[in-house]
Amino acid sequence: MALILGIESSCDETAVALVASDRRVLAQRIASQDEAHRPYGGVVPEIAARAHAERLAPLIGDTLADAGCGLDAVDAIAATAGPGLIGGVMVGLVTGKAMAMAAGKPLIAINHLEGHALSPRLSDPALEFPYGLVLVSGGHCQILRVDGVGRFRRLATTIDDALGEAFDKTAKILGLGYPGGPAVERLAREGDASAVPLPRPLLGSKEPHFSFAGLKSAVLRAKESGEYCNADIAAAFQQAAIDCLVDRLERALDAMSGITALVVAGGVAANQAIRGALETLAARNGLPFIAPPLALCTDNAAMIAWAGAERYAMGQSDPLDFAARPRWPLDPDAQPVRGAGVKA
Ligand code: KG4
Ligand code: ZN
Repeated sequence: MALILGIESSCDETAVALVASDRRVLAQRIASQDEAHRPYGGVVPEIAARAHAERLAPLIGDTLADAGCGLDAVDAIAATAGPGLIGGVMVGLVTGKAMAMAAGKPLIAINHLEGHALSPRLSDPALEFPYGLVLVSGGHCQILRVDGVGRFRRLATTIDDALGEAFDKTAKILGLGYPGGPAVERLAREGDASAVPLPRPLLGSKEPHFSFAGLKSAVLRAKESGEYCNADIAAAFQQAAIDCLVDRLERALDAMSGITALVVAGGVAANQAIRGALETLAARNGLPFIAPPLALCTDNAAMIAWAGAERYAMGQSDPLDFAARPRWPLDPDAQPVRGAGVKA
C-alpha cells in the first residue's frame, strides 16, 4: 500500500490531500479563494498566486496532522504541474519539489486534466479503461476516450468558451456574482426555459466540437432587451447548454465504440440538471453512467494524489527540474480546431 500526498494550485483552490493506493482518502483540505476574487467577477491570476503562496505550507501541515502522520510516512509527492494559471502552478510544483528533495521522496508531476479524468477511478473501483469522458470545467470542455493512465484520445474540444466559463459569464450578465455555475443552476430551477429563445451553437454539426460564445452573447442580448426575468434567462441558458452537450456527446459516442462507461468530470459536473441529462443519454446508449461525488468534481487535491497513485503503481516519477506548463494537452496528437483560442 502506498501513501501519496497531492498538491493542487492551478486555479483558485489551494488544496492538499493524502490518498492511499487502496483508494482511502486519509485527509484532505481545500482553501477556497472565492472571497478574494469575488469583487472582480473572475479569477485574478496575481491574487491567486499570492494566496496559494500564503496558504499552501500551513495547509500541508494541517492535512498531515489530520491524517496523524508525518512526511516520512508518505511514499511520493504528486503536484499539479499544469495546465493552469502559471503563478499558482509554480507555487504548488516548487513546494512539491522542495518537499520531495528534503524528504528524499519521488516527485510525480500531474496534469491537472488527468487528475479530473482519473478521479472517477478513485470513487469507483470497478471503472475499467477505456471509458468515455466528458470533462467540463471553467477552463476546459472536452470529450475524451480514456484508454489508460497517460493515454487519451481527444474527440472534441471547444472552439471558444468552456462550458463553466459560459455559466460564469451568464452569472455575471445576470448579476449573480462569482462563481457563477451554482448560482445559475439555483435560479434556473425557478425559471421557464421555453420563455427565452436562445441558440444552440454547432447543434447537428459533423465534428463533435463545442461552441458557447454565441450562446453567451445571446444571453447578454436577452438581458439587455429587458423583456425577460433573470430566472427565465438562467433556465433557458442552462437548457440550451444541455441540448448542445447532449447533441455533441451523441456525435462523439459514434467514434467511441468499446467503452465501458460514460463518465463526467470537472466542476460543471456538479450541476444536477446536466448530470440528469447525461444519465439519460448514457442509458439510451446502453452505457453505465458514472459521476464522481461533488467534492471530487470541482478542483481538489484528492484527484491529484490519486493520479499520482496510479502513476506510482506504474513505477513512474519525474525529475526535480520538471517545468511548470501553462498549457498541457492530454492528447498531444489532437488537431487544433478552427476558431480555437487558448484552450488546451
Ligand atoms: O473544475 P473546476 O473546479 O475548475 C476548473 O478547473 O475550471 O470548475 C469550475 C467551474 C466554474 O466555471 C463553475 O462555475 C463551474 O465549474 N460549476 C458549475 C457548477 N458548479 C461549478 N457549473 C454549472 N453548475 C454548477 N452547479
Ligand atoms: Zn479543474
